[in-house]
Amino acid sequence: MMGMTNHQGRSRRLYPSRIIRAARPRPLRYAHVIGWGMEVPSEVLSNFDLEAIVDTNDEWIVTRTGVKERRIAEQRETTTSLATRAAQKALDIADVLPSEIDLIIVATATPEHIFPSTASMVQDFLGASNAGACDLSAACTGFIYALDMAANKIRTGDINNAIVIGAETLSRVMNWSDRGTCILFGDGAGAVVLQGSDVPGGILNSVLRSDGSGWDLLTLPTVGSRDTYLEDGSHEMHRIYMDGKGVYRFATRVIGDSLRQALDQIDLTPDQLNLVIPHQANQRIINYAAKSLKIPEEKVYSNVARFGNTSAASIAIALAEAADSERIKPGDLLGLVGFGGGLTWGAMVLEWSALPSTRPTYSLTWGRRQGQYAMAGLRRPVVRWWRRLMLLSPTTWVAALMRRLSRRHRNPSTYPSDGEHD
Ligand code: UT7
Repeated sequence: MMGMTNHQGRSRRLYPSRIIRAARPRPLRYAHVIGWGMEVPSEVLSNFDLEAIVDTNDEWIVTRTGVKERRIAEQRETTTSLATRAAQKALDIADVLPSEIDLIIVATATPEHIFPSTASMVQDFLGASNAGACDLSAACTGFIYALDMAANKIRTGDINNAIVIGAETLSRVMNWSDRGTCILFGDGAGAVVLQGSDVPGGILNSVLRSDGSGWDLLTLPTVGSRDTYLEDGSHEMHRIYMDGKGVYRFATRVIGDSLRQALDQIDLTPDQLNLVIPHQANQRIINYAAKSLKIPEEKVYSNVARFGNTSAASIAIALAEAADSERIKPGDLLGLVGFGGGLTWGAMVLEWSALPSTRPTYSLTWGRRQGQYAMAGLRRPVVRWWRRLMLLSPTTWVAALMRRLSRRHRNPSTYPSDGEHD
């Protein structure tokens, strides 16, 4: 037995491994963003369009939130399809093959299912045959949580490549008669490819926090939630409920403090940041971030006017947009900061190391990527049928085939087919 000390300095007694006899220290790794991409639906819903849906007006929305328009997913667009497209764009910039990816995390509050995870579906559509996949639920802070988890797996040397995605189809869970929420939110996805390297830089530090006592300020009730039993009927299953003022107060309290804390832990100060990318919740909150960090407003990225609040996708979309427009240069110090349901909040400091990159060049790797996407599309039906074949006797197999064909014939378009996710 051996005395050990945990990080708080309290002593603990642990039984040492009989398997690991000589500790082989792994070399220190750094997690760098080497690819980025975003995907938003093409359908635009402007404030003027909203005037026809709820009792609101463009002037109120712009003054109180800064939002002018938002994107709304069409029937065939899903959280998975937006996430997959954003990931493919990020893979193009990174010039990495899906088969080289070790981990996929999708931060989302609007998964297609409680299970399977959206990440597993993305993994299948990409043909990322060597990747683990899971969703992460931390509402609008989800992307920062997911980046932190993936970066730490890379830093420890467990994995080398990860895709981290923030993706939402919030329009599907909106209460379109609640003018306090439906004017705010939009749909979209953003993704980054993280890669391990010995070159110092990349994700430097993060602070993740939660205060569950505020869970009722922002909720999206699902199976068996106590909210849906409220007698006043104010909360419906699969509809967003928000106490706007409560969330606003919380957001302005944590936005500057958390980023300052993340900087402070690595001996940096806000004035050293080249760009802050906050969760795109409301222009007034974004401006407040600049004020509380005592930095000029131009150093705080905003696209809330064009996309509204896309929850877990918002920081990922803003990051991809800033990188695409070369608003971020190699060597820049970035501060990411998010807050939302949970309550959760988090901040991350990252040193940008990716050199400017052009959109897909039709290289050999580009061709191999397209090949892996195509193979994934072919593999899916084959593997599914093979699984069924293994389970059924020949007579029941033929009966199942007949049933399936007749169902398709009767009801051809109840759900987008697999190919339409591509
Ligand atoms: O990503 C998750 C994080 N979420 C957030 O960060 C949201 C944070 N909260 C906010 O952004 C703001 O609280 C809102 C934009 C949601 C609301 O702005 P507000 O300045 O807090 O407005 P309010 O709710 O206090 O409403 C002020 C007035 C009310 O009328 P009275 O009672 O003063 O007569 C509302 O009924 O504005 C009215 N109002 C509207 N009027 C026109 C509320 N919504 C609307 C609307 N159009 N859409």
